[in-house]
Amino acid sequence: MKAMFTVASSPLFASLIAASALLVGATFSHADAMLSAQGKVLFAHNCHACHSEDSARNTFGPSLSGVVGRKAASVPRFAYSDAMKASGLVWSEDNLRMWIADNVKLVPGTRMRHVAISDKAEQDYILAYLKTL
Ligand code: HEC
Repeated sequence: MKAMFTVASSPLFASLIAASALLVGATFSHADAMLSAQGKVLFAHNCHACHSEDSARNTFGPSLSGVVGRKAASVPRFAYSDAMKASGLVWSEDNLRMWIADNVKLVPGTRMRHVAISDKAEQDYILAYLKTL
């Protein structure tokens, strides 16, 4: 008993606790970074051919810079479909999830090619990445 008390109150023990608290904190933000890094890879495979992450550049599709929370069909100088202009959507996380799960179902008549990413984890990764844009 006496020995344990000595260990627990030693400065070394205290700094060990501080160090592990730091480690836990680092692991959480590291997890976010891991998610968006996975998302970046999926974005490169599934979206980048048509979407730029650069706010000043529309390619075949509108730029997705700042897309989370943005009104649908609101990027200047991009020729959206009438269906998208009439959708009245705001790109909340839920709507983005539905969009990448089945965009044609969410906005019938959209000009975007059919995308069907039904895997919840893959959706999470892509959402995490879109939030960084
Ligand atoms: C083959 C080209 C193509 C691919 C691949 C593609 N998109 Fe699109 N995307 C478009 C086009 C074109 C539009 C505009 C649609 C319209 O006006 O109906 C669009 C629109 C969008 C919008 C609405 C943007 C706004 O400003 O309202 C989002 C969000 C979006 N795409 C996300 C994605 C994501 C995420 C992926 C990958 C999972 C993806 N797109 C893959 C061509 C593409």
